[in-house]
Amino acid sequence: MASGKGGVGKTWLSISLAQALASSGYKVLILDGDFGLANVDIQLGLVPTHDVVDVLSGDVTIKDGVQHFCGGTGDAAYSFDVLAGRSGVSAVSGMNRDALDKLLLSLRLARQYDFILVDLCAGIDPITRHLAAIADQLLAVTTDEPTALADVYAIMKLYLRDRRRVGGDDMHCQLVINQASSHRSGVQTYEKLLQACRFFLKWEPQLAGTVRKDSRVSAAIRMQSSLLENFPASPAAVDVGRLVRQVVHGSLPAVA
Ligand SMILES: Nc1ncnc2c1ncn2[C@@H]1O[C@H](COP(=O)(O)OP(=O)(O)O)[C@@H](O)[C@H]1O
Ligand SMILES: [Mg+2]
Repeated sequence: MASGKGGVGKTWLSISLAQALASSGYKVLILDGDFGLANVDIQLGLVPTHDVVDVLSGDVTIKDGVQHFCGGTGDAAYSFDVLAGRSGVSAVSGMNRDALDKLLLSLRLARQYDFILVDLCAGIDPITRHLAAIADQLLAVTTDEPTALADVYAIMKLYLRDRRRVGGDDMHCQLVINQASSHRSGVQTYEKLLQACRFFLKWEPQLAGTVRKDSRVSAAIRMQSSLLENFPASPAAVDVGRLVRQVVHGSLPAVA
């Protein structure tokens, strides 16, 4: 999950996708890849005992480093794992890329998870670009604001370059238009980006989905509770359900 600009909804979407996937029976891990301003744990109301820095430095194993998040009740109960980030410490540029690669390889080889969702840092620092390029599937998130659009265009441009560098000519990057005033306007936003990509990049990213702007999203975040659980019929919850079906329907083994 990447974006050029912060505040577009990556963290909330990562968590909502994890909740939807876990509710459908998938084994899911969220890796908080926003190493500078980690906040997956905050949105979930978790107080992590360990985080990704502990795991990367070898102080704890992956198994001991992940936190188990349980949600829902009764028949609707679900759970997924979280590898929390650490805010404020060692800026992203200080992260060790080899250690991260090793961690991701171990996670893949262990085959313990059906989906590993990586909530990336906003922006284009080298570690974030690398994680985006090696993902099985990149979801590039934007709103319809001109600054967010310009930034996500830059993300996609760099993704094409980086993806080729890591040996893939196959591009697995789809767009998510979040906080759209309607599906129609979300699709129009996508089409604007599509035109620019076609013309300048000779490439056509797919639309993974549009998620409507919904006041219940910030209400749920403030309550550190799940929109999907508490307001399942709200527009954004319905849209997340559709987004998940689209992503899973692509039968991709992992999402980042
Ligand atoms: N679909 C939506 N409708 C309304 N508000 C949203 C929606 N998605 C995100 N937001 C708002 O955007 C804020 C930033 O979301 P967050 O997931 O923290 O962004 P990011 O991780 O990209 O910085 C949230 O606190 C929430 O209030
Ligand atoms: Mg975030």
